[in-house]
Amino acid sequence: HIEEAPDMMRRLATVGITTREACGNSVRNVTACEYAGVCKTQAFDVTPYANAITQFLLGHPDVQDFGRKFKIAFSGCEDNPCGLVTFHDLGAVAHVRDGKRGFRVVVGGGLGAVPVQAKVLAEFCPEEELLPLAQAVSRVFARLGEKQSRARARIKFLVQKVGIDEFKKLVAEEREGLRPDERWTAFLDDLHATDEKPVRDPGAIPSDAPAGFRAWAEHNLKPQAQEGYYSAIVKLPLGDFTATQGRALADLARKYTGDSIRCTVEQNLTFRWLSGADAVAFYDGLVALQMAAAGAGTITDMTSCPGTDTCKLGISASRGLTGELRKRLTLVEGDLDPAVRALRMKASGCFNSCGQHHAADIGFTGVSRQVGGRKVPHFNIVLGGQWTENAKSYGLVVGAVPSKNIPKAVELITEHYLADREGEESFQAFIARVGKREFRKVLAPIQKPPPYEEDPSYYSDWGNPREYTIGDIGVGECAGEIVPFVEFGLQQAEQQLHDAQDALEAGQAGAAALGGFTAMVTAAKALVRHLEVQVKDDADDVVANFKTHLHDTTLFHDPFAKGKFATYLLKMHGEQSYKNASDEIAHRTLDEAQLFLEAAHACYERLTQAAAAAAE
Ligand code: HEM
Ligand code: SF4
Repeated sequence: HIEEAPDMMRRLATVGITTREACGNSVRNVTACEYAGVCKTQAFDVTPYANAITQFLLGHPDVQDFGRKFKIAFSGCEDNPCGLVTFHDLGAVAHVRDGKRGFRVVVGGGLGAVPVQAKVLAEFCPEEELLPLAQAVSRVFARLGEKQSRARARIKFLVQKVGIDEFKKLVAEEREGLRPDERWTAFLDDLHATDEKPVRDPGAIPSDAPAGFRAWAEHNLKPQAQEGYYSAIVKLPLGDFTATQGRALADLARKYTGDSIRCTVEQNLTFRWLSGADAVAFYDGLVALQMAAAGAGTITDMTSCPGTDTCKLGISASRGLTGELRKRLTLVEGDLDPAVRALRMKASGCFNSCGQHHAADIGFTGVSRQVGGRKVPHFNIVLGGQWTENAKSYGLVVGAVPSKNIPKAVELITEHYLADREGEESFQAFIARVGKREFRKVLAPIQKPPPYEEDPSYYSDWGNPREYTIGDIGVGECAGEIVPFVEFGLQQAEQQLHDAQDALEAGQAGAAALGGFTAMVTAAKALVRHLEVQVKDDADDVVANFKTHLHDTTLFHDPFAKGKFATYLLKMHGEQSYKNASDEIAHRTLDEAQLFLEAAHACYERLTQAAAAAAE
């Protein structure tokens, strides 16, 4: 209850947990690999540095005037994914150079609607320079970052606007002028202050450990750098556990691993410092709590954002979908090919990508489509993203599939991979070789939902029996037969966007960017004509009419993102950025085109909804 919240906050504060600056335009939770300090491949333990930057920036006057949130992540090494620094506003990867500790620092990354890879700010920032560098970056962001338009206020837009070289210069100047602060280096005097102490002696895992334990240990137990100790991952369904389970987990931690448990960005819990000699007893404890699910970090261990369950920005039920996929895949887990089992899947309920779908082998992002006058929940399928090497590359949308056909889509995609891969070819390499066009062909048969009369289940979302509908609009004898002109236009735009994505894959950045822009113009034209406005085929006329009739009237405005997506078209047309585009610009153009098309679908839905309400 809300009246109990202050008491809860006080109790959390007494154990060093605060929600201060966890929301709003502030430095959000600083994250680091869950294996920091115990990992075999780390350069060194990043925990004290992550802790120091948290303490230093929390409440710092230089971070109180941001236009948007700011996320910081640490990684203990380059290649392991746990830190995922490339999609953070500021990221630091541990390095040792000539025996000296420091970090490769990156800036301006982010997911969200238009994902951007962070750029290198410093190849090697010595440890004593880390906090002043973060302070200087914060001051530049606070001073020059966008404050009016939230949609363009993250630091990634500032870095893009001024360019990384100019940004580096601004930061260097800012650093020069900073008044020295003893907190910059005080923490270096005791880098062991955050060390965890094991509560049990090290030991070996018994050679006669039962089969159930061994199946669990295959993916959920990781040997630590410290001989005789392991990190155990408790795989949580959708990141959830009950209060009773939470208390029992705390008891297990006190008994076997000490008083610290790390939450992971993949929505699991990691218990470190588990002695091999206790591993079976710990596992038995999890079995008793029904928390011994195997397969951490595999295809059954999906990440999902809250989606329509609780998020007001949600379009589709990402949690419902994830729960369903997890249930179905767990049943066949033992029979899956190891290459398929190793895939990572992630789902977001909308384009904001809280579920990190861009950085998955197979990602899903919620969208909705209008079919025969009814809304049908869909997910866009995103392929080609990379979780490894700190999320080195992001995927692109292959196409939208009705929510209820997503399990089938996963089946088709993985079957296609297994059937046509060359030797031990990885999923990443396979996608790069065959291209997304191939996957579009694979998905084509399941992209169209059956008419409502044939199968109404497609018209409600996973885990939500309520109909996902806007009423019987334009439904004739057979709903499937009536396809308004605007729907053809939107389909044509999607086809153009797909062709543009193929062009990008073929290394033709110029053609791809032009194709992305053309797709936006086609969608805009379809909507303008839907309003019964005469419009010519040329882009200037379409954009002018789109501006007058859909942008200025706010008809195209998203309820939350407002004019953000319309601006993509207007800006692109004004600046002609689609001409002679580089790879990076082409990628961004296609991301923006994808979002514009989603917004066009949503706008069309709102227009039909309004027409239906007026007709009642
Ligand atoms: C339920 C309420 C939530 C809302 C309204 C929300 C809203 C948003 C928005 C608007 C963005 C895009 C920001 C941008 O592009 O500038 C975003 C990004 C993101 N959110 Fe959430 N979020 C919610 C919950 C969560 C949760 C529970 C998590 C994970 C624990 C999460 C993790 C992320 C991540 C990883 C990103 C992408 C990284 C980035 O570029 O910031 N979000 N969120
Ligand atoms: S991705 Fe969208 S639906 Fe999911 S939590 Fe973020 S804002 Fe909400």
